[in-house]
Amino acid sequence: MFRRTDRRTEGHGAGPAGMALRLVKVSKTYGSDDSAVRALDEVTFSLASGTFTAVMGPSGSGKSTLLQCAAGLDRPDSGIVTVDGAQMTGGTEAELTKFRRNRIGFIFQQYNLLDTLTVAQNTILPLKLARRRVNRERVRDTLTAVGLGNRLGHRPDQLSGGQRQRVAIARALVTEPSVIFADEPTGALDTRSARDVLLLLQEAVRVHGRTVVMVTHDPVAASYADSVLFLADGRLAGQMHQPTVDAVAERLVHLGDDVMARA
Ligand SMILES: Nc1ncnc2c1ncn2[C@@H]1O[C@H](COP(=O)(O)OP(=O)(O)O)[C@@H](O)[C@H]1O
Ligand SMILES: [Mg+2]
Repeated sequence: MFRRTDRRTEGHGAGPAGMALRLVKVSKTYGSDDSAVRALDEVTFSLASGTFTAVMGPSGSGKSTLLQCAAGLDRPDSGIVTVDGAQMTGGTEAELTKFRRNRIGFIFQQYNLLDTLTVAQNTILPLKLARRRVNRERVRDTLTAVGLGNRLGHRPDQLSGGQRQRVAIARALVTEPSVIFADEPTGALDTRSARDVLLLLQEAVRVHGRTVVMVTHDPVAASYADSVLFLADGRLAGQMHQPTVDAVAERLVHLGDDVMARA
């Protein structure tokens, strides 16, 4: 599904330079006829490599669908998604899976760790699935960096929610993906654990050069990002650079007005 284009046109080469993620007129409709819901309506944007972007919008505005389509977990009905200049169109399910395993990381609200595996085993899993070499020292370093260097043999049920999410962050970082997608990563956490997670996501961007896209409904979480994309009714409804908590909260209120005005 991800068709590798000519190497010269990839990544930092020709075309939109340094764009880690690009969506062009991405649309997705669930159901058909009377029950059809247009979850995404020709969404177009590009995110530069090494940036932290929050995606916000009312419930049902298409945030999760956007993330799923951009991450190759779901197929848009139409439109183009590229990651580091490599295009997601056509191709087989196996090709898509391979692409995803090597270039994309995920963090979910409910952690999605395997209960029967240790912290270290959970972290290594994406490398195993991608049949990549496991550098034990690097795995240990990654877990140490998220504050879990002394928890390698623990199982998820022996950890707090914040610790579990930090395992999920280590798991997302260990393959050195181009883009990390996070859907409400702090949604289930207390304020302090949420802050730890947000600082780690910032560090992934600033120190390791990853590109992070995070769905959140929380203006405080969004203020950790470099910019915010606002969605309303499956459409892009604005962008804010260097967001502050107050500015984001204010914009969200008016976003509701815009939707009402269009309806
Ligand atoms: N699997 C699905 N089947 C049918 N409708 C769906 C499905 N997933 C999402 N939707 C609908 O698509 C719209 C966007 O949903 P979603 O992307 O989950 O929004 P958000 O994450 O912003 O709350 C909503 O109207 C939702 O009800
Ligand atoms: Mg959602």
